[in-house]
Amino acid sequence: MRRLGLIGFSGSGKSSLAAIASKSGFKTVDTDSLIEKQNPEAFRLLEDGTEDDFRTLETSVISEVLKSDFDFAAFGGGIHFAHPAWKEIYESSLKLVYLRSSFENLAGRFEERPLCRRLGLEGYERLFRLRCPLYEKAASFVVDTDGRGLSEILSEVMEIWNSLFQ
Ligand code: S3P
Repeated sequence: MRRLGLIGFSGSGKSSLAAIASKSGFKTVDTDSLIEKQNPEAFRLLEDGTEDDFRTLETSVISEVLKSDFDFAAFGGGIHFAHPAWKEIYESSLKLVYLRSSFENLAGRFEERPLCRRLGLEGYERLFRLRCPLYEKAASFVVDTDGRGLSEILSEVMEIWNSLFQ
């Protein structure tokens, strides 16, 4: 199947890239939007401290997405090597592209995200440091985003797409 998944920390541009790809005619899915459609209260679970419930819902959405037909999937920032859905993602042979950013570069983009509100900036940065190696381990490709605009990042993602599928 000609499919790619986009992973990376909140604010790294996964959803924005998928939205642009969609305008160019690619079939895209965004797991956060699907979660919200299924349960508009879902993201509140992260702020209220019941993260496991959110991850359970996220895992079931991912399971459906993996069975569906798409070109690009934008996953939430919680998707990495240690996520409960990892085994299923791995077994689906979906190739993942990690949009790698420094924490400093993401500043201003994640402060309103529920996990950041719950953990505070220091806790959120610790989470970032913990996750970076997990994204690297999960991904087949890494695209650096610092100092680059969306169109430049998308070009590199498209090069990966072409190298795999054209
Ligand atoms: C999360 C990131 C969010 C969303 C949820 C949990 C996380 O997605 O899935 O709030 O665990 O970092 P974005 O990466 O699109 O912000």
